[in-house]
Order: sequence, then structure tokens, then C-alpha cells
Amino acid sequence: MAKKGTGAHQDIYDQVFENNRKWVEEMAGKDASFFTNLAKAQNPDFLYIGCADSRVPANVIMGVEPGNVFVHRNIANLVLHTDLNVQSVIEYAVTHLQVKHIVVCGHYGCGGVQAAMQSQDLGVLNPWLREIRDVYRQHYESLSTLDEHTRYKQLIELNVREQCINVIKTAAVQRQWIKNQFPTVHGWVYDLSNGLLKDLDLDFDDVLGKIRKVYHLD
Ligand code: CO
Repeated sequence: MAKKGTGAHQDIYDQVFENNRKWVEEMAGKDASFFTNLAKAQNPDFLYIGCADSRVPANVIMGVEPGNVFVHRNIANLVLHTDLNVQSVIEYAVTHLQVKHIVVCGHYGCGGVQAAMQSQDLGVLNPWLREIRDVYRQHYESLSTLDEHTRYKQLIELNVREQCINVIKTAAVQRQWIKNQFPTVHGWVYDLSNGLLKDLDLDFDDVLGKIRKVYHLD
């Protein structure tokens, strides 16, 4: 029987399965029960919400093995209240997995943020990127005084902060925090040029306090 999908670029496709076999051998070599243990259950301490950019893989940059971080990624690491996908991820991670930390991780050089800064019609991406344009509008006065490079970096950080606030607005996070004093929400930015993570030192208690004045849900 002819092999399926023998078109162009078949070699890079086949390579994935070769890599996978090697990885399985390597992991099982280090710990014979690695896969049987993981198959039983997951118990991650982290929920990571990051950009879909191929250069920012959550587990790799955090240096953690499978099982340690529940991951949601989309263009420009957005947390929209109308996005059933991200809201379901947060609900599940907080209520069922009981994660201790929620991270929103942006990255310098984010194409989504760059696109949002330009006056350009991007089709179906328009409503998605509008969230970033709203952040831009909210901080327009201070951002407009900066040179383009600094403004781009600043908007990436402001977007992360705003998405952290969106996480804290959710009922699941507020409910769990009041009950257990976790999860804590953190904003990070990853630097593509040196591989380092920067903690934006979000004052979680302060943000939560301010948010609960308006968005409290109990
Ligand atoms: Co990005």
C-alpha cells in the first residue's frame, strides 16, 4: 500500500516521528515509569497563558517536564471574557487542577502586538487584535512620547498586565483565592534575543483589591 502524504516536505514531516521515538527512549531511559506515572493523572502547579509564537515554547523556557504546566496559547497571549476557549482553560485549571500560579507570558518582538500598532486591515484578526488596540488607546498619552522601539516593548508589557487583570476578573480565580489564597497571578515577558524571562512584578494583592471594587462576584 502506498504511503499516505508523500508530497513535498515529507522529510521534515517524517523527522517528527523519528524525533518522537528518540525522545520516548531518552525519557524512558532516565525513568522507566515516566510514561506510566504521567498516564495516571496530571497535577500541574502552573497555568501558563502565552503567545502561539513558535519561538516561545512554555515547557522549554520554564525548564519543566511534561505534567508541570497546563498551557494555553493564542496570538498575543490574550484573555478575552468572550473567548470560551481561554475561559474554559482558566476554569478547569483553577477549579479542578487547583493550580497555585497563573502566568500570562508575553514576549518582546511579538508579531501580534506589532500588527495591532499598525493601521492595517487584517481581516479576521481585526476583532482579535482590537484588545491590544484598546490597551494602546488606554495608555496612548504615555506611549506616544516614546520612540517606536521603546513604545513597542512598553505595549507588550502593558498588554501582559492587562491580560493578568482579565485573569483576575474571572469568577473562578476570585472564588479560589478567597477560599485558599491561591492561585497568584503573574505577568512575564520572554526575551527572544537572550532567552531570559522577566517578571513584571505584578502586585497581585493590590490589583485584586482594586478589581474587586468593581468586578467582585460574590
Ligand atoms: Co507573539
